[in-house]
Amino acid sequence: MESNTLTITDNRTGRTYTLPIQDGTVRAMDLRQIRISDDDFGLMTYDPAFMNTASCRSSITYIDGDRGILEYRGYPIEVLAEHCTFLEVAYLLLFGELPNESELKEWVSQITHHTMIHETTRKFMEGFRYNAHPMSMLVSTVAALSSVYPEAKNVHDEANRLLQVKRLIAKMPTIAAMSYRHSVGFPYVFPDNDLTYTENFMNMLWRMVEPKYAANPVLARALDILFILHADHEQNCSTNTMRSVGSSEADPYSSVAAAAAALSGPLHGGANEQVLKMLDEIGTKENVPAYIQHVKDGHGKLMGFGHRVYKNHDPRAKIIKWTAEQVFQITGRNPKLDIALELERIALEDEYFVKRKLYPNVDFYSGIIYQAMGFKPELFTVLFAIPRTVGWLAQWQEMHLDAEQKIARPRQIYTGQRKRAFIPMEERQAAAVLKA
Ligand code: ACO
Repeated sequence: MESNTLTITDNRTGRTYTLPIQDGTVRAMDLRQIRISDDDFGLMTYDPAFMNTASCRSSITYIDGDRGILEYRGYPIEVLAEHCTFLEVAYLLLFGELPNESELKEWVSQITHHTMIHETTRKFMEGFRYNAHPMSMLVSTVAALSSVYPEAKNVHDEANRLLQVKRLIAKMPTIAAMSYRHSVGFPYVFPDNDLTYTENFMNMLWRMVEPKYAANPVLARALDILFILHADHEQNCSTNTMRSVGSSEADPYSSVAAAAAALSGPLHGGANEQVLKMLDEIGTKENVPAYIQHVKDGHGKLMGFGHRVYKNHDPRAKIIKWTAEQVFQITGRNPKLDIALELERIALEDEYFVKRKLYPNVDFYSGIIYQAMGFKPELFTVLFAIPRTVGWLAQWQEMHLDAEQKIARPRQIYTGQRKRAFIPMEERQAAAVLKA
């Protein structure tokens, strides 16, 4: 018998099946042949929250969660963060290779020339309530772009797909900055094509009456590094949403809006905003032990700690700590850092966290840097969505080129009742469900 196989005996029937093992997986569809009778549907796997299910083949991002390794297209994240710009990494993620000098110049020029948004989109944004959360505005406005570019639905046309990819990468910072300006009541600032991707974003966020915005180079580089670290992270909640929505052949604006909505949750990209709230709530270094006890007693989670995949240090958290030092030399030290460091120190020694392999994740320190740089906490998840758009689009492209992919459609185990007798209105008992 071939060694790369799995032999299963169904004790219900006594029959034995041999399934191929490829890349450390068995195909769930191979289980379907395991039946107890001809009219049996066949064996399925049950995997709530995809704890142990590969949903695709991908050559974009490699993670070894036990060893704390993260690579984009085979390049370690540490190397890319040190040597590349964000748009260079975006090119790598999308096209598989680092660009040479002329390719990069052309790529940057193309992205730079798609940063403007249509006037109707600007007016659309003006309609948001004065205190709308920037992430809600971003999600809705990105979805609305599908009405501005109806041709985007031609998802099988490669040139058309690429055009939408460039538009999305270029317009995310513009929409993000406008969401912020709207929430603080400042007039919108138009993109400046002389500036780099991150400098221009800072310009659109913070330019006031000065004729030309000059970004601090250390802060612009720090933001670029943070964008590199957030650009992709294989099959997480939002990327799975991007692929799932995209699998119905929805246009990329609708798919990115859905992915961004998934990112907004506090257990995913929304965690960085929650970390700041938590540090505010803790207040001082001295209150840290009591807060940790509070978490251990089952009252909430330590935000910015834990990860589905990393059961060791998140390699991005280390780079973020280094970047924080550079930023604090310009902005001064964020006093919340001391609380965060104490929290990390105690948590990493505490049996509860050690046993569960809970380490600081990317969101633990990013919020502290962002705050020192002048970003409001409400903008933190938006700052995550801008670079992650690149990862979502790379994964979306890969999905469209993968002949094995079809519309995503999981199975279920039905647990409800069957074939109930209809009850006429006058005989029904009040179920009291609306009183809750
Ligand atoms: N604080 C305290 N306890 C925690 C934490 C935490 N941050 N994270 C997990 N645990 C505990 C769980 O209560 C559980 O304990 P139990 O075994 O006694 O029931 C155990 O550790 C395992 O946790 P799960 O929730 O099963 O792990 P899962 O892989 O499903 O969740 C997640 C991962 C969602 C990231 C979780 O660790 C969490 O909620 N962390 C806080 C939110 C956060 O920082 N999210 C950002 C993640 S990074 C990103 O998305 C960019």
